[in-house]
Amino acid sequence: TRDIKIGLFGFGCVGQGLHDVLNNSKGITADIHKIAVKHRDKKRSLPAEYFTYEKEEILSNKDINLIVELIDNADDAYEIVSTALKNGKGVVSANKKMIAEHLEEFVNLQKETGASFLYEASACGSIPIIRTLEEYYDNELLYSLQGIFNGSSNYILTKVFDENVDYQTALQEAKEKGFAETDPTLDVGGFDAKYKLVILTAHSYGVYVKPEEVFNYGIQQLAGYDIQYAKEKGLRIKQIAKVYKVDDDHLALYVMPQFVRENNYLYNVDNEYNGVIVQAAFSDRQFFRGKGAGGHPTGSAVLSDISATRYAYKYEYRKSYRKNGLNIHQDIELEV
Ligand code: HSE
Repeated sequence: TRDIKIGLFGFGCVGQGLHDVLNNSKGITADIHKIAVKHRDKKRSLPAEYFTYEKEEILSNKDINLIVELIDNADDAYEIVSTALKNGKGVVSANKKMIAEHLEEFVNLQKETGASFLYEASACGSIPIIRTLEEYYDNELLYSLQGIFNGSSNYILTKVFDENVDYQTALQEAKEKGFAETDPTLDVGGFDAKYKLVILTAHSYGVYVKPEEVFNYGIQQLAGYDIQYAKEKGLRIKQIAKVYKVDDDHLALYVMPQFVRENNYLYNVDNEYNGVIVQAAFSDRQFFRGKGAGGHPTGSAVLSDISATRYAYKYEYRKSYRKNGLNIHQDIELEV
């Protein structure tokens, strides 16, 4: 029997990816019960009875015990997620912008209502980085967390560097493959990576940073001579997102393109892959790599959250005890 009845919001790249991975996964007792979509005239791969155009039809449906929110619009997503949590219903979401902007509120809401909110797919696609930070580094002092958090930018940089494809063609490919956001300036402007950095900072340091407090600079401003210079020096350019402890009281965060040497783990993270380097007091330097964009990799992360609701898994936000001790520091130190 399938005991998780999902009310799904959105049936785009990730929604369809989730449908595929769910259909091909043995042992998970979850069913998509109803799917709320916006456009009535789109041709869809599932029978019409699956779909509704009214979000209420899902939010007030007593048979549905889990809301999975995979829509594009952050404001609509906020309405859906906060309504569901207030009603005590569990939610899984992949909406990084919306989560980065409202995480503190959602954490409090979960405490009040007991509903669970999981969002592993919101940061670095298939890499299970949130749960890793929550559990594995629970007690450890983290010096820094950095990486490539945007698959589209990395795909574009890979094509431009290794295959001499021009920027616009590479961006078009990233859109066609379903890596890019509907508004790709979010990708190439460093905003998408910033939202993910904000979410991971909460799980690394227990600090809720507002996205607008974080400096971001995108890859769209790179010039031909930047690429040329990097090639001549045997370097690559990667869009790096980083949070690190400046001292006992301060954290610094940024997103920007940086030169990366061959001995850096991120040097060989190519195409739509993401990479995360965690540096901690006792475990030292660790590196995670996996697909950061695309329907199936992201769908697999959503599925891991759906699956985790079976054993009532919740993020504990245990690191929040450091909250009062860390402020944001605006001077950034760069290293190659
Ligand atoms: N547009 C995002 C990216 C999708 O390219 O990484 C995954 O969050």
